[in-house]
Amino acid sequence: MFACGIGAPSDVMQAAKARNQTTLALIGSPHHVQRSIAAGVEILVAQGYDAGAHTGPIGTYSLVPQIVDQAGDIPVLVAGGVATGRHIAAALAMGAQGVWMGTAWLLSEEHQGHMHPVNRDKLIAAGSGDTVITRSESGKTFRQVRSGWSQAWEAQDAPSPLKMPYQDVLVGDLLGAIEEHDIEPLIHSGAGQSVGYFNSVKPVQQIMDELVGEATEVLASQAKYLR
Ligand SMILES: Cc1cc2nc3c(=O)[nH]c(=O)nc-3n(C[C@H](O)[C@H](O)[C@H](O)COP(=O)(O)O)c2cc1C
Repeated sequence: MFACGIGAPSDVMQAAKARNQTTLALIGSPHHVQRSIAAGVEILVAQGYDAGAHTGPIGTYSLVPQIVDQAGDIPVLVAGGVATGRHIAAALAMGAQGVWMGTAWLLSEEHQGHMHPVNRDKLIAAGSGDTVITRSESGKTFRQVRSGWSQAWEAQDAPSPLKMPYQDVLVGDLLGAIEEHDIEPLIHSGAGQSVGYFNSVKPVQQIMDELVGEATEVLASQAKYLR
C-alpha cells in the first residue's frame, strides 16, 4: 500500500501503481475527493478533526457522509477518533467500508521500541481533552498531547511557527534532542482525541480482537431498531 498524507500528486500515484501498490489518500475536506480520484487514488481515507498528527478543521461525523456521497465506487475508510468497535459500526453506518486508525497503535506492545517511556506514560494519562492543535511541529495544523512544548508555543510572546517545511527544518533536530536528553516536560507525541480510550499497553492482536469483537456485537444488536 502507498498512502499520501498531504496531497496526492498524480505522478506519485502512477509511480506507486507501476510498483503494484494500492494507492490511498488521506483527505480532510469534501473538496479533495474529485482531485484525489482524478489523480488515481484507489481508496479514500476520510480523516476528521479528532485525528492525531496533521488534521483539518472538519469533524469526522460532518466529513464522512459528504465524502462517501462523492466517492462513488471508490472505497472510503474513516479516520479520526476511531477507538472502539462502536466507532467501527458507526463508520459502516455512515457508508464507509472500514476504518483507519493511528493513535490506537501508539500504545501497542509492538510500538514500544519506538516510544520514549515518558511519552508512553503521558499517553496513558491523557484524556480526550488533553490534546491541542499546534503549528509548532511542522508548520501545518498538528494534533498532539499538550506539553511544555505546545504551551511554550502558545505563549503570548512566542514567535509564529514558520510555514511547512521550514518549521520542521527549524525544530526537527531540537525535537530529537528533547527525547535523546530525556527533557521530560517537553517530551510529547502526536495523538488524537481517541487517546482517552487507550489506558494501557496491549499487543496488536488483543487490540484487534477487542475492536472486531465489539463491532460484531454492536452490528448484530442494531437489528432491534428495525422493529
Ligand atoms: C503519531 C502520529 C503520526 C502520524 N503520522 C502520519 C504520517 O506521517 N502520515 C500520514 O499520512 N498520517 C499520519 N498520521 C495520521 C494517521 O495516519 C491517521 O490518519 C490518524 O492517526 C487517524 O486518527 P486517530 O489518531 O484518531 O486514530 C499520524 C498519526 C499519529 C497519531
